[in-house]
Amino acid sequence: MEIKNICCIGAGYVGGPTMTMIAAKCPHIKVNVVDINENRIAAWNDENATHIPIYEPGLPELVGQTRGKNLFFSTDVNAAIQEADMIFISVNTPTKTYGEGKGMAADLKYIELCARQIAAVATSDKIIVEKSTLPVRTAEALRSILDNTGNGVHFDILSNPEFLAEGTAVTDLLNPDRVLIGGEHTEKGKKAQQALVEVYANWVPREHILTTNVWSAELSKLTANAFLAQRVSSINAISELCEVTEADVNEVARAIGADSRIGSKFLKASVGFGGSCFQKDILNLVYISQTYGLQEVADYWEQVIIMNDHQKRRFAKNIVKTLFNTVSGKKIALLGWSFKKDTNDTRESAAIYVADYLLKEQAEVVVYDPKVTAEQIYSDLNYLGTRSDTENRSLLTVVNDPMDAVKKAHATAILTEWDEFKKYDWQSIYDHMLKPAFLFDGRMLLDQELLKGIGFEVYTTGKG
Ligand code: UDX
Ligand code: UDX
Repeated sequence: MEIKNICCIGAGYVGGPTMTMIAAKCPHIKVNVVDINENRIAAWNDENATHIPIYEPGLPELVGQTRGKNLFFSTDVNAAIQEADMIFISVNTPTKTYGEGKGMAADLKYIELCARQIAAVATSDKIIVEKSTLPVRTAEALRSILDNTGNGVHFDILSNPEFLAEGTAVTDLLNPDRVLIGGEHTEKGKKAQQALVEVYANWVPREHILTTNVWSAELSKLTANAFLAQRVSSINAISELCEVTEADVNEVARAIGADSRIGSKFLKASVGFGGSCFQKDILNLVYISQTYGLQEVADYWEQVIIMNDHQKRRFAKNIVKTLFNTVSGKKIALLGWSFKKDTNDTRESAAIYVADYLLKEQAEVVVYDPKVTAEQIYSDLNYLGTRSDTENRSLLTVVNDPMDAVKKAHATAILTEWDEFKKYDWQSIYDHMLKPAFLFDGRMLLDQELLKGIGFEVYTTGKG
């Protein structure tokens, strides 16, 4: 079976870049990306491709090359479903905020809505691809909805989790370590799996395309994120120990990373991991384990989250402690708000928690981030629910020029590892700050000795 028409429901950080890459590498396939959010679709269709709704290096160029040729963005979900041979479900699956599993389980209401809509609209056979990260055995629920509410057409269900990391989405999609495709072990299921293999084989070497059963694919995605997050929590745990023992966590990371069994990646101590996936997926893994009565398994993985929360709180607490145990009325500059560099995504960013902590201590917080809008920052704080929108706006200021943030500040804290921070004139920043000028480097980004030479009082995660 040759795929000629693909529909993707969900034009977010995953659906948008992934479909753009498929369109770029498969000119013979028409790709329709649909979303219920009209503003988002309008932004994807903006004549100027740099105005697309997500900041991702290299993506505007790729969108510019393919949009209007074989890549289309629209809100007409039904039409795109009708046309498609293959439908990717790429809608968000946030942590449940209500009812059973509140705060842990994945909220699958959008996935279910998609399945019901596909079932209602489809008048020909379709291959349904789970692209969103989902709890293991979600395909079972999908199958039940599709078969029980459909028009008698046949659906195949595949799990094809996406491993791209934000900020490097284009290169990750171009050269993936692996593409994972889980399918059902029936004749039709195998054909559907093969059809998706052929789509990726247009640019991914076949030995990098792994096929498994559906459940393994679903569980592998949760497991991959849990392992990655565990590495960050592990090194962050060691960072606290380094701070009291005069060991340097960068040196420790280099030393252990040189062991090929451990490897050097994902060993950077930080103010804590963020992003839409790590916390959500681990909580989900914990919840699933509990559901099956596996309490020790659940506790084991939950510790990764506990360590991360501790790291974020510890960083914020340290600012207060260092500033003579009070930050009330003191100006504190936060450089960086996104959860990592090269993205405008702020979901679960450590900066949100650090800012909230400092605001509770009545600090005057001023934020600068090269790509995140002021409205996004206020919306992130409002979402925490600690204060009203009016209070957040009166206590926290967002500026477009980093110098406005640091001017007369008691302390500056680096929360995202944006490259531009390394290029700043730190002497001039020092001159503009109140003395003693404190610098808290939550990303181990700057040369500590250089800063100390200028006169800063420096705190770096993981170095005593
Ligand atoms: C999402 C999931 O959060 C993640 O679990 C999964 O691994 C990949 O897909 P992301 O693309 O980053 O990640 O989410 P987001 O940027 O929120 O995009 C989802 C889009 O789906 C939104 O634009 C939303 O408007 C759209 N959507 C949601 C629909 O079109 N229909 C719906 O019913 C629900
Ligand atoms: C992650 C996975 O890497 C990706 O495969 C999956 O598809 C989605 O989740 P992403 O959330 O985009 O991707 O970013 P990632 O690069 O994994 O970083 C996550 C967080 O960990 C960031 O806040 C980052 O700053 C932090 N981190 C990462 C560290 O603190 N130290 C490290 O060594 C690596």
